[in-house]
Amino acid sequence: MASAKSGNAAKTVETSFPWDETLAELSGPADGCLNIATACADHHVAAGRGDNVAVRWLGRRLERRDITYRQLADLSGRAAAVLAGLGLAPGDTVAVLMDRVPELYSAALGIWKAGGVYCPLFAAFGPGPIKARLEVGRARVLIASEELYLRKVAPGRAGLPQLEHVLLLGEDGGSVRPHDGCSDFRALLAATPPVGPVATTPDSPAFLHFTSGTTGTPKGALHTHRAVLAHLVTARAVFGLGEADIFWCTADPGWITSTAYGVIAPLAAGATVLVDEADVEPRRWYGILHDEKVTAWYTTPTAIRTMMRFGAALARSYRENSLRVVASVGEPLNGEAVSWGQKALGVPFLDTWWQTETGAIVVANAPGQGRRPGSMGRALPGVEAAVMRCDGTAPKAVEAADTVGELALRLDWPSMFSGYLGGNGLLTNCFREGWYFTGDLVKQDADGFFWFIGRVDDMIKCGGLQIGPFEVEGMLMDHPAVAEVGVVGKPDLLLREVPVAFASLNPGFEAGDALRAELLSFARQELGNVLAPREIYFVDELPKTFTGKILRRVLKAKALAEPDGTDLLAALPPCPGRFDDE
Ligand code: PRX
Repeated sequence: MASAKSGNAAKTVETSFPWDETLAELSGPADGCLNIATACADHHVAAGRGDNVAVRWLGRRLERRDITYRQLADLSGRAAAVLAGLGLAPGDTVAVLMDRVPELYSAALGIWKAGGVYCPLFAAFGPGPIKARLEVGRARVLIASEELYLRKVAPGRAGLPQLEHVLLLGEDGGSVRPHDGCSDFRALLAATPPVGPVATTPDSPAFLHFTSGTTGTPKGALHTHRAVLAHLVTARAVFGLGEADIFWCTADPGWITSTAYGVIAPLAAGATVLVDEADVEPRRWYGILHDEKVTAWYTTPTAIRTMMRFGAALARSYRENSLRVVASVGEPLNGEAVSWGQKALGVPFLDTWWQTETGAIVVANAPGQGRRPGSMGRALPGVEAAVMRCDGTAPKAVEAADTVGELALRLDWPSMFSGYLGGNGLLTNCFREGWYFTGDLVKQDADGFFWFIGRVDDMIKCGGLQIGPFEVEGMLMDHPAVAEVGVVGKPDLLLREVPVAFASLNPGFEAGDALRAELLSFARQELGNVLAPREIYFVDELPKTFTGKILRRVLKAKALAEPDGTDLLAALPPCPGRFDDE
């Protein structure tokens, strides 16, 4: 594996941020040790907070289970003992394939206590992508729900010789049926006394997430135990998290947002993590926000837009005073959604920006830093972010405000990934002269707020211009008819590419030529003829990744394949491209 820090002239740069104070707050008793699980559980027990609820789980039928910090410390010690008993060595990968169930927490923290690398996979992946990730991650152990294992791993297990052990969770808390080469995880936990953590250091590997960005093959980004410093600092800086909070992160366990903000950040801050097993359903979600007295909520723009579709009146009927803040990640949160949220739920809606590679939030509309609806926010304390361009090989900062360039981050902060697995050669592209190039194009305004333009790969090359799809999408979203929209480049003989839009509509609006003409003229008025989309296709739903990102390359394939565009709606499969996208 290549190391991120050894890439092209990349070097560690000291920042003045007092990360050492956070390290001292979280590190274990032995000099130089740091373990995420100890920081997230045992640390609170030692400080007298053992009876506080660490995890509050809601099942699909709204059944609930609470796990205190003391129980979590005990359960993770048992899981670590089980893994050590299987011969897990420090640095070995343990893959996890389960939905949002309580055992996710004992598994993750147990893996960290055993010195292993936690590698959660999307439960919705098919057998092929799961096998590929088990292989690239060289997983020696898999902890999975019985049903997912039987459907998605068992048929190909013979082709995974490095996978030595499989620990299963029976359905609905029950025991596991006998299967070759598998054991019952819950039975083992009950029968095995807990052990303490092995001596991990801040640089020991801790978790592995696969990412494919919007293009390219999946590669695994590896993170170390040091990441917990950034998780704790951002939990406080962005969400103001502390012991009294009920924090709800809706992310799927396979997404790094779950590992960072569904597991580590709130637990390190001593809050109660709420975890809901069910999928997005606005009425259920409003009910949970209200009944569980959630204080801070971390979700996605897609979820917020889904709630917008159900109207502000429904949101207001569930309004609850406990809620302090809502934040989102994964895609731009347009200004309209920010003001809708503020009006409907009466709390600030904050956009935050980060990537699998950065491991934690690095740019945000954080309280105390000012907020600007529609922007990603400013660099958080401890992070130096700049708009850069590369002329030849030398990176140069773009000095003028409101000028497009690539978002770059000065190395190094604690949650920065330590390298890619299965992605040789990728690092030279993203590290230059002590900066990490994110692959996202942005502008920075005179007050330091960053504005998302698009992925470098998604730019539309139109005549001599580079058009960022988000700018066009953001404007179309301002039209009351448009619920969601994706803009891509369609080949054009004269201009090389022209922007075209795929839009889904809000209730009460009818797709048809009249609305198409209205939207095209609205776009021309607002954006001018060059940036305005040349065509608009109406779709019921946009193709998305599991994490809610619009799959522009699927739209692009459609724009390429259907020159006259008439049949695009019918041609879109219900969940296209899902199998390879994080
Ligand atoms: O393009 C950016 C987009 O999501 C990418 C990172 O994806 P992933 O690694 O799956 O995310 C992990 C945790 C978020 C970024 O390169 N992205 C993320 N947040 C935003 C965003 N685009 C616009 N605005 C955001 N707030």
